[in-house]
Amino acid sequence: MPLDTGEKTPQNSSIDMKEDAEYQRQLAVFVQSTTEKGIELVKVGEVIVGLPHRRHFLDIGAGGGDLTIPISQSFNETTVVEPNEKQASLLRRRCPQFNIYNDSWEKVNLGSKRYDFILCSHVLYYIAEGHWLTTIEKMYTHLENGGRIVIVLQSPIGDVANFFNQFAHYEVNILELWRDLIRQYGDDATEIRYFMSEMHTETLDDMATIGLFILLDPRFRQFENEVRQYFETHHKVEDGYCFIQDEILLVVKKNKHG
Ligand SMILES: C[S@@+](CC[C@H](N)C(=O)[O-])C[C@H]1O[C@@H](n2cnc3c(N)ncnc32)[C@H](O)[C@@H]1O
Repeated sequence: MPLDTGEKTPQNSSIDMKEDAEYQRQLAVFVQSTTEKGIELVKVGEVIVGLPHRRHFLDIGAGGGDLTIPISQSFNETTVVEPNEKQASLLRRRCPQFNIYNDSWEKVNLGSKRYDFILCSHVLYYIAEGHWLTTIEKMYTHLENGGRIVIVLQSPIGDVANFFNQFAHYEVNILELWRDLIRQYGDDATEIRYFMSEMHTETLDDMATIGLFILLDPRFRQFENEVRQYFETHHKVEDGYCFIQDEILLVVKKNKHG
């Protein structure tokens, strides 16, 4: 039974992650318990090898930089757009060579700058679904000829979607987005890939922390007991708790002649 938080979808809710130490803690537990980032890096790497140039990389919603930092090794220059002040300043300290804009993708002004590779991983949920195509069009405007955009999203099926739907509603229509991208950029310019990873924790505390991280909106923290019960019932294994994550990677290419 979905719990009523007064909001229909997480992307509609006002999520203020500024100075949110609990969010940082949840992110850290998630990152240390999942094979996701390693697998995602391999999948993103498969796209990067097809680029004609590896000069300029733009990461939209870089978070703690878990993808940004390794991917930046393949490019001459890295730019980050990250609205969370804390994440942006941590990244600025850790990687002073990056160009960091502490702003949202919708608002940031990058002038006429263009990038060979643009990554937008697990960020679109923060933007209303009706604005996704214009959001992606802004990325396309900043894409070099021959460049690639990669968008990573949670799959609407699998363990994570089932969990999410127990407490909220994960209604992302990936097929519709894919169809719209094909209409906008053409069949040859669009690709879709699917990959799976595993979250494993020894303790229920850590798995519940990951559950609350996945639910995104801090108001779900009041349902911690229900989240714990969900994992105890559905995801207990011999040596702890195990949860599979299914993800979709969309690629948009710009041809070499623009
Ligand atoms: C779940 S994290 C993903 C971090 C990283 N991309 C990854 O996949 O590991 C989402 C990030 O998107 C950022 N974000 C939220 N709204 C955004 C927006 N409108 N424009 C750009 N980034 C945004 C958040 O501050 C957060 O750092």
